[in-house]
Amino acid sequence: MKKYNVCIVGGGSTYTLGFLKSFARLQEEFPLAKLVLFDIDEKRQEPIGKYGDIMFAERYPELDFSYTTDPEKAYTGMDFVFMQMRSGGLKMRQADEHIPLSMGMIGQETCGPGGMAYGMRSCVDMIKAVHEIRKYAPEAWILNYSNPAAIVAEALRREFPDDTRLLNICDQPENVVRSTSRLLGCDWENLDPVYFGLNHYGWFTHIYDKTTGEDLLPKVRQIVKEKGFLPQDAEQRDQSWLDTYGFVQTMLEDFPDYLPNTYDGYYLYPEYKVSHLNPEFTRADEVMAGREKRVFKECDEIIAAGKLGDKFDHISDAHAEMMIKVAEAIAFNTNGRFILIVENKGAICNMQDDAMVEVVCELGINGPRPMRVGPIPQFYLGLLVQQVSSEKLLVDAFFEGSYQKALMAFTLNRLVNDAKKARKVLDALIEANKGYWPELK
Ligand code: NAD
Ligand code: G6P
Ligand code: MN
Repeated sequence: MKKYNVCIVGGGSTYTLGFLKSFARLQEEFPLAKLVLFDIDEKRQEPIGKYGDIMFAERYPELDFSYTTDPEKAYTGMDFVFMQMRSGGLKMRQADEHIPLSMGMIGQETCGPGGMAYGMRSCVDMIKAVHEIRKYAPEAWILNYSNPAAIVAEALRREFPDDTRLLNICDQPENVVRSTSRLLGCDWENLDPVYFGLNHYGWFTHIYDKTTGEDLLPKVRQIVKEKGFLPQDAEQRDQSWLDTYGFVQTMLEDFPDYLPNTYDGYYLYPEYKVSHLNPEFTRADEVMAGREKRVFKECDEIIAAGKLGDKFDHISDAHAEMMIKVAEAIAFNTNGRFILIVENKGAICNMQDDAMVEVVCELGINGPRPMRVGPIPQFYLGLLVQQVSSEKLLVDAFFEGSYQKALMAFTLNRLVNDAKKARKVLDALIEANKGYWPELK
């Protein structure tokens, strides 16, 4: 069986440990010859690299594992490059969330003005990184899930129009499917969803039982009404995530036709959400106080002990597992189904062809084959056309260095929606992002 070479860009990410454990756990299923971590921050990546050295020596001794800040060493000979960079780091995420909230607008990692600010930073760094990857690994599959994935996908589509080995992915639709299976008490892999939307802005129109063909959506609606909605891994989640998932109940009461992605709550209830968010302590603060500390503490403990021993946990990591399964589908040409971000080209037939949409695709060695959704109803079309227009104008602003286009993008965004507010928050974000954004004139 062929063994694959994989690089993870953003080796210092809080998600990397989950990947290292999952690659070790799935070594029979997806065998690796070489695994390299790459990051621009040597100090942040080092403890994770050292953890990897210890873990793989015990659990995967034949694996050639290393970590580096040298792109040539990182990318040469790679079959797959997983991208999970956070341009500007969690400190800038904090600014993205705090600044709009201090002005009464949603402050969120990927939605609204904060997402647009992050989008500008990611466009700069992602385009640079993909050029670098292509210099050393012209044939590698690039699996990007760096956020904001909608804006990054649009920018990459324009910068690399002929690159057919560049895939943008988000785990949230699958997280919602997994959560639904917990509610139904069934195996999530026995659910066959139909989904449409943009990244972090979509709906499930059907959730079929793979075996019987029954559409389980009416049952899901009833259970959510009675019991609420929980993430599949609720026991490992912070309170803010439990609240976000719980809000699916409210969304289903008002719009019962389809099961929403959890992110829809920001767009459908911005005033309620703003009033329930704390401008001085947002999700970025929660991550810095929680997940980030836990990950690096785990590294420090293992490094101090010099061994994993029975500390190796077999708890699966849904996020890493999904991304690895995406790579497997390509490597082994399985044509398995995944919800992916692809150029529309008629999949949602009443939306523009060049929108980057999120739909169910079959995935194999020649890339994703999107499944047709057909026309979507006016309400959803209206919401999505407004959002895709905002995202496209933002990417115009990025490529053209245009303040005017950025102002239009912000004004058109449903979470801003007013030109004076747009100018105010845009100017504040330009100031906060000096050195990260291209200059807008
Ligand atoms: P983090 O800040 O902990 O880690 C990000 C790492 O990226 C840091 O070590 C940083 O030094 C590195 N980095 C920054 N710029 C870089 C560059 N230009 N090249 C290489 N490395 C760079 O962030 P995190 O919370 O672990 O999240 C990582 C990323 O994964 C984010 O973009 C996040 O939004 C994304 N993510 C996406 C999904 C999805 O479903 N699409 C799911 C989970 C995480
Ligand atoms: C989900 C989304 C990602 C997002 C992440 C944020 O997984 O799909 O796109 O980055 O949540 O999680 P966090 O715990 O960092 O707020
Ligand atoms: Mn996502």
